Amino acid sequence: MAAFPRIALETPALAPEIRSLLLAAFPTPVEADLVERLRRDGDVAMALAAFENDALVGHVVFSPMAAPFKALGLGPVAVTPKRQRSGIGSQLIRQGLATATDAGWDAIFVLGDPAYYGRFGFRADTAAGFECPYAGPYLMALALSGNELPGRGGSVAYAPAFRDLE
Ligand SMILES: CC(C)(COP(=O)(O)OP(=O)(O)OC[C@H]1O[C@@H](n2cnc3c(N)ncnc32)[C@H](O)[C@@H]1OP(=O)(O)O)[C@@H](O)C(=O)NCCC(=O)NCCS
Repeated sequence: MAAFPRIALETPALAPEIRSLLLAAFPTPVEADLVERLRRDGDVAMALAAFENDALVGHVVFSPMAAPFKALGLGPVAVTPKRQRSGIGSQLIRQGLATATDAGWDAIFVLGDPAYYGRFGFRADTAAGFECPYAGPYLMALALSGNELPGRGGSVAYAPAFRDLE
């Protein structure tokens, strides 16, 4: 078994396998449909796939947000059930953060469990000044360059595909 998954940008040919992975990782097709809608809308800023021995084992999407600075929304992220809790999700996220930093993005927002996302530096405090339908303890943000975001307030919104899930 490979010690480290290989991480690569998503390619169009992977779409069916990614759908299968998302269907296996989540209880409903909501996330699989969401990723397809994001692609259709042109709202995938970056999507990474993780492979072990050439088999797809993980996937993460970053989509552009409407925000006062250059911000991405992280998610969905998924690891194939049999390979969860072996570091693959963390590697996908860390690689995504590094790639987004290199590409000049200012911030990443994520909606999720603070116990999981805190380990990457995401903080609810950092997101607290922003108006967003998801504002609250599960909305977290991370500044990619330096310790502070370029702004402290204003409204932030995920891509329309997320809005339509509500
Ligand atoms: C959440 C997910 C992407 C994490 O990827 P992973 O490869 O399993 O996680 P890692 O091995 O990198 O990290 C494992 C750690 O995360 C924790 N963890 C895993 N899933 C978690 C969750 N849903 N909530 C909180 N903590 C979680 C584990 O307890 C473990 O913590 P530890 O290191 O302190 O023991 C993966 O478990 C998954 O696909 N889950 C189902 C889909 C999902 O819920 N996605 C997230 C919402 S978009």
